[in-house]
Amino acid sequence: MTRILVLNGPNLNLLGSREPEIYGKTTLAEIEGRLRQVAAELGVEVECVQSNHEGALLDALHAARGRFAGVLFNPGALTHTSLALYDGLAGVGLPAVEVHLSNPAAREEYRRHSWTARAAVGSVAGFGPRSYEWGLRALAAHLRDAGR
Ligand code: DQA
Repeated sequence: MTRILVLNGPNLNLLGSREPEIYGKTTLAEIEGRLRQVAAELGVEVECVQSNHEGALLDALHAARGRFAGVLFNPGALTHTSLALYDGLAGVGLPAVEVHLSNPAAREEYRRHSWTARAAVGSVAGFGPRSYEWGLRALAAHLRDAGR
């Protein structure tokens, strides 16, 4: 079965209580539960990893090679700062879809650039928890089209 790594970066473990006016009240566990339902509907399998550490995210990406067909990735603030995560994504060569709860393009200037999006197939942002669901649907369709 097609396996997809769902990778979440710094502070996303705080979802539910973190700045709810921006990120909503849904917890990461609830988002991951919904993704498992959608995955079952799509006939794919998801494995969910969250870390507050850039190196651990890189390790997870490297370990994904050969085990996963693609990555659904919310790098959190590292989106805007991490050349290393861009290199890591480009280096492993796995198709990735970047997701954000908020719409960084409509927020502060310093959130408007994404390093990681440069190595992604595409992005879904601004739809709260649904960004993840639609990102997963888009990634599964992309993998299907690519015959992976
Ligand atoms: C975020 C957007 C980032 O700018 C921010 O640093 C986050 C969350 C989002 O999902 O909206 O941590 O990735």
